[in-house]
This record gives sequence, C-alpha cells and structure tokens, in this order.
Amino acid sequence: MTKYLKLAAILAAVPFIALLFINGGPVDAQTQKVETAGEKFKNIKVLNDMPAEQLVRVMGIMSASLGVKCGFCHNTENYALDEKQSKQTARKMIRMTFDINKNSFNGRSEVSCATCHNGMEHPLSSPNLKPEPEPERPAQPQTEPTVDQIIDKYLTSLGGPARVAAVKTRYIKANRVEPGGAVTEPETIWFDGNKYAMETVYTEATVAEGFDGTIAWKTSKGEPIPLQPSEAEQIRREAELFMPTNLKTIYTRLDYRLVDLVDDRPAYLVTATTPGGARERLYFDVGTGLLVRRTASTQTVLGPFIYQVDYKDYKLFGGVKVPTTIEYSMPSIRWTRKVLQIRNNAPVDAAKFGPPSK
Ligand code: HEC
Ligand code: HEC
Repeated sequence: MTKYLKLAAILAAVPFIALLFINGGPVDAQTQKVETAGEKFKNIKVLNDMPAEQLVRVMGIMSASLGVKCGFCHNTENYALDEKQSKQTARKMIRMTFDINKNSFNGRSEVSCATCHNGMEHPLSSPNLKPEPEPERPAQPQTEPTVDQIIDKYLTSLGGPARVAAVKTRYIKANRVEPGGAVTEPETIWFDGNKYAMETVYTEATVAEGFDGTIAWKTSKGEPIPLQPSEAEQIRREAELFMPTNLKTIYTRLDYRLVDLVDDRPAYLVTATTPGGARERLYFDVGTGLLVRRTASTQTVLGPFIYQVDYKDYKLFGGVKVPTTIEYSMPSIRWTRKVLQIRNNAPVDAAKFGPPSK
C-alpha cells in the first residue's frame, strides 16, 4: 500500500489509479452489472448507488470546488477512515446537494459543490460589494461560418492540407511541467497514423500510455494500470487528433454553435460527437483559424467533469504548425506540456504502440 501511496504523492493522477488497481476492475465481466461505489469501496454511506468508476472524478470535483487537496477530508494513508470532521461535513453536503436538485430542479444536477463554494472553503453569504463585471459575449458574425469553412481555415493555418497530410509520423521530446513550475518530468511522444505512445519519467517510475489503433492502455513500471472509460477515450483522442485532416472521421457530427471567448480572444465553438457518442467542444481562434481549446465532458452524480486541453504557442516544424505549449486541466489535476524538440516523419519503432504483453 505505501508503495502505491508514495507513487501517488508524485503522480497527480495516480492516487485514483492506484486505488482502482488495488480494488480490481470496474465491471463484473460475467454479469455486465456496473459495480457501485457501495460495493467497491469500504466505507461509503451516501454515494452507495453511484457507479464505482465515477468516484475518482467526483472526488476531483469536490476537491476543486473547495480549492483543497484530498488530505483536507482524508487521512491519505487510508481513505476509508472517518478521522476528519470535514469528511463528515462533506457527506452532509452531498446529501444536501442531492436534495436541492431533487426538490427544486426536478432531479437535474443543476446545483453542485462549486455553485456555492466556487473554489472556496467558506462560501459567501452576503453579496460581493465590488464585483468584477462579467465578460461580455463577443459580437456574433452576420453570416454564420460553416463547419467546412472553419476546418478549411484551420488546415490552411497549419500549413495547408497537403503539407499536413504529408506528416505520417512524429517524434516529440517535451517536459511535463507541474503546477507552480518547480517540478518538471521529461516526456517522449510518438505518433504514427492513428497510433500514439507516450512515456513520462517520474523520479519513482516511468509511466507510459498509448493507443495501437484499437486499444488504449497505460502502464507504470511496465505493469498495466486499469483505465476508466473516460481516460481510455482521451488517450484514443490524443492519437486520432495527430492527423488534423481526419477531423470529419474522428467526429461523426460537427455543429457550429457561436463565437465564444478563449483567453479574451474570439473563437468559433464547434460541438463534436464521436462515433461512440462522446461529446466534445472544439474552439478555433477567429483570427488565426487555429484550434486553441478542446473540452470533453462526462457526467457524474455531482455534475459534469470537464477535461480541457489548451493548445498554445503554435510554431512551424518543416512547414507545419504544431502547438508547443499544451495545458491539460481537469478538476484538481493540471499540468503543462512544453515541447522541446519535434521531428516529423522520423522512423518510429512499431512495438512502442502495442499494449503491454501479459
Ligand atoms: C470535501 C471532502 C473530500 C475531499 C476533498 C475528498 N474526498 Fe474522498 N471522500 C469524501 C467522502 C465524504 C467520502 C465518503 C462518501 C460516502 O460515504 O458516500 C469519500 C470517499 C473516498 C474514497 C472511498 C474510500 C473507501 O474505501 O471507503 C476514496 C478512495 C476517496 N474518497 C479518495 C479521494 C481522493 C483521491 C481525493 C482527492 C482527489 C478525495 N477523496 C478528496 C470526501 C472527500
Ligand atoms: C447551497 C450551497 C452549498 C452547496 C451546494 C454546498 N455547500 Fe458546502 N458549505 C456551504 C456553506 C454555507 C458552508 C459553511 C461555510 C462556513 O463554515 O463558513 C459549507 C461548508 C462546507 C464544508 C466545511 C468547510 C470547513 O472548512 O469547515 C465542507 C467540507 C463542504 N461544505 C463541502 C461541500 C461539498 C463536498 C459540496 C458538494 C457535494 C458542498 N459543500 C456543497 C454551502 C454549500
């Protein structure tokens, strides 16, 4: 257990993964019955009927809503203990939130922890006397652009569809920069068509993930780590988006919505649906045409869990633009990828992409 927890202290995403690992897989393969949190975890009193695979995201949502870490409510050596008053209060708060939604919003999860807490331990009970004005929605275009026009402009901005399509493989050396910037870990990333692999070297372990065209996988020190469906989906998307010319096959439905703001700049918002039914939002900068943000949202009992990727500092590599700063954010987990080196059409060892052999 301490081995997992030591690792957990370093890998922001791993405490959950380690816990899932210890407790076994999320779905009973024989009956296809979804395992509930009440069945899987030791000391569940409120979230009993929630699918167990939501627990990770729900804990992240609660932490981010209050602006705290897991240790605010937990003894991180043993998450099942009820040592802390804040964990008891959180149970009452979860019940209260469910009741508000049931009694006042016909059961829709309109209110969640963030509605009141908004990143604070102590919500305000009186109005802010000096509020910041809400940013205004930017001017909407007279004629709405079509999705085809938005994608064409994107591909042209990247260097043109022909040059983009000519890049068949890519090797990237990067740093994973943890929040605050003091800690960085080296990353190596490979792409080949719709295949992708990445290795991150932490002090205590090398963590790898990949997609071989069919299966998404993740390992720590070469040992497989079970993936939640939402994690597998994002590893797959990382692979697919290497080929921006394939946007219309990656997503079977693309709809233009409106002009929104991303970091104070107007951006076309396009909603995107995958063949598997996953919904994402793509934001293309109105001025440069480049993809600047992608969000994927999955439902939980405490509202949507948002996974956001911001693409910044596009630079030319062999005539094709690639973002060199990529920010990954989700409730209570954030990091930035800083690209150090890119080689297009470099030879790539096909064995990199396969799932670990058992
Ligand atoms: C605001 C308080 C709060 C925060 C912050 C919080 N948790 Fe929890 N956690 C709870 C409560 C409450 C439960 C029990 C829920 C229930 O009884 O239905 C719980 C249960 C758990 C369990 C199940 C333990 C068991 O076996 O019974 C795990 C694992 C867990 N949390 C992990 C985490 C992790 C990892 C984090 C940080 C990302 C985190 N929690 C952050 C309040 C919190
Ligand atoms: C309707 C508003 C509202 C919602 C929704 C809400 N809270 Fe609270 N919460 C409060 C108020 C008000 C307090 C008391 C603040 C204080 O002590 O100053 C509080 C206190 C807390 C505390 C105790 C903080 C401390 O330092 O003692 C915890 C923990 C907490 N909430 C967790 C949650 C969680 C987790 C959720 C979502 C499941 C949630 N709250 C949803 C209003 C809300």
